[in-house]
Amino acid sequence: MNSSLTASQIITSDVSIETAARALEQGLLVAFPTETVYGLGADAANPAAVAAIYAAKGRPQDHPVIVHLAPGAPLTDWAAEIPPEAYQLAAAFWPGPLTMILKRAAHVPSAVSGGQDTIGLRCPAHPVAIALLEQFKGGRGGIAAPSANKFGHVSPTTAQHVRDEFAADASVAMVLDGGASAVGIESTIVDLSRLATHGPVLLRPGHISAAAIAAVIDMLPAAPDQAAPRASGTLESHYAPHTPVAMQETAVLTATIGQLQQRGRKLALVHYSDLPASHAHVRLPAAPEGFAHALYAALRQMDGSGADLILVEAPPQGPDWAGVNDRLRRAAHGSSGIVHGLLNAVAP
Ligand code: TXA
Ligand code: MG
Repeated sequence: MNSSLTASQIITSDVSIETAARALEQGLLVAFPTETVYGLGADAANPAAVAAIYAAKGRPQDHPVIVHLAPGAPLTDWAAEIPPEAYQLAAAFWPGPLTMILKRAAHVPSAVSGGQDTIGLRCPAHPVAIALLEQFKGGRGGIAAPSANKFGHVSPTTAQHVRDEFAADASVAMVLDGGASAVGIESTIVDLSRLATHGPVLLRPGHISAAAIAAVIDMLPAAPDQAAPRASGTLESHYAPHTPVAMQETAVLTATIGQLQQRGRKLALVHYSDLPASHAHVRLPAAPEGFAHALYAALRQMDGSGADLILVEAPPQGPDWAGVNDRLRRAAHGSSGIVHGLLNAVAP
């Protein structure tokens, strides 16, 4: 156990999962592992507990959170006007990294969906998350949980990442430790709330691809349009470390590294090809699953390396890399021109 731990406890045993479920029932916040990223959980039926998540994250009140359900829990507890496609997708991908946006049932507090008339539902695949959901309110509750990071920051994929985000924050009662999240990037979000008029819409790409969804419901999810429900993970700037992030193609990267280092710049590299030595680096697997699994830990590690810039080797394009490219594009948003600026400014 880590000495930086002040407000939270690290818990792994069955007894403790029960304790965590009781804490949630009392309106406290519990961080827990999922197969995508760690979530900061609260009782979705308790508006004060949901408000505490927003306060702890520093997240705007009008951003909806995902409600997590135990395997087999009825969708009708939370959603209305549920199309058959929702049941088909749940049967195919739950427990798993897919979130469905549906019309919100009238009795569900609007706080959980940021005042929108829809609700995001997901049944996660991590055994600790499932045990927690089964113990919480006898398996019939919903745990509202955004990623357990401060608003706009990199999502956590280990319990230690969660502690790094919230150690000083007494509002997080417990952190359940389930090891490193297998998938490593947030769930795919598909909007089915306007299916009749707009078809399925992919609000956030992830491990479950648009093609995999189409194979189940025979309709290819479209890219979001102007009227699509808002999703904070779809803001232009998100998933960002504190150090500026730039992405470059493999072909130009070696030259850029040389030029920047000649000017005394400290570079942190996140890459998958052979590259020259730098101030710090993490080499990730050259396949999308392995890259996604390790990406957020790599960004956090490089953020702590004291570099002037995190330079990421742009992954290949293509559907398998859609989730990773989406997150990297957002992490690098606002840093455009940074490489040019560092090349032209006088070194310190
Ligand atoms: O993998 C995940 O989805 C993780 C784990 C913890 O389950 N959760 C996660 O939550 O990424 P969060 O809050 O960081 O991102 C959830 C996204 C946000 O972009 C939010 O706006 C969107 O889902 N969302 C939730 N409910 C929605 C709704 N009713 N309409 C539109 N977007 C919604
Ligand atoms: Mg998030």
